[in-house]
Amino acid sequence: MEGRLGQNKRSVAEECVFDSLQTYEKRYAQLAHYLGAPERLLPPNELEFLRQIESRPRRYPGAIGSADARFLSALTSILRPPHAVEIGTLTGFSAALIAAAIARRYVTTNGLLVDTIDAREQCLIDETRPTGFEIAEIAPELAGIVRLHAPCDSQIIGQLAHREELRFVFIDANHCHPYPLLDLLRCAPYTRPEGWVVLHDIQLGISGRENSGAASTSPFGAEWLFEAWPFRKISGDNIGAVQLPVDRSRLIPFALRLMSLPFEVPGPGAARLRSALLKSLAGLV
Ligand SMILES: C[S@@+](CC[C@H](N)C(=O)[O-])C[C@H]1O[C@@H](n2cnc3c(N)ncnc32)[C@H](O)[C@@H]1O
Repeated sequence: MEGRLGQNKRSVAEECVFDSLQTYEKRYAQLAHYLGAPERLLPPNELEFLRQIESRPRRYPGAIGSADARFLSALTSILRPPHAVEIGTLTGFSAALIAAAIARRYVTTNGLLVDTIDAREQCLIDETRPTGFEIAEIAPELAGIVRLHAPCDSQIIGQLAHREELRFVFIDANHCHPYPLLDLLRCAPYTRPEGWVVLHDIQLGISGRENSGAASTSPFGAEWLFEAWPFRKISGDNIGAVQLPVDRSRLIPFALRLMSLPFEVPGPGAARLRSALLKSLAGLV
């Protein structure tokens, strides 16, 4: 990616890695500072909830890991979005985390919602179970405030949120370039100016290369998007948050540059994606 995009267009990420529960409160304060809300303190029951989550008897593959879950939970808790959208549900683990963080911030959960979108009705890792099945296992009292949309993709975001409504979107679906870019561009009109988009697996491609060498097929979509992001961004290791600019049209030259990288999707799929990307750019003006 180096040569094709040019070093000078990128911004440097602030770092905030939630390496353990012991340092959670310290990292929380650091992240709150980065997010421009240093007055937001850790709610008393948040740490206990995370402790329970981390010691849950069963963990399903494919969900975000512990350090990334802490980052996601803290970011949601600090931003206090009354409504959040997630793309990529799988078992519903991250949706439950987001819902729990939102619910902790508000006295009543009436009307609060997490909209989570997945391409599959039946869960990718266990086809005998519906997508999102873990939400009721982790937090049955929150299942009512999480709304699952499956089979769907980011195209439906306009039916779930008003323009410039969202403070926060979580993207963790197809990681092949340019899917994460497409998901972000589709969400941008519905996200507030200076709102945040969290991207998961921003080190998936490089860690695949480190583990399996050049034969690795781990995709780089989220990684390239995060690396090339020219506005503010915060890295939490394999998860990162990027801040949208006030003027969304500034995303257009950035997106066009990123579209010059080879698509990790072969054949007619690539042509369809290119046309979906161009359509999504029109929504930014
Ligand atoms: C990595 S998993 C999500 C994990 C989940 N966020 C968690 O941490 O609990 C990716 C999910 O995205 C779904 N997916 C793949 N491509 C998608 C797309 N284009 N739009 C929406 N969902 C997609 C898959 O079916 C899968 O369930």
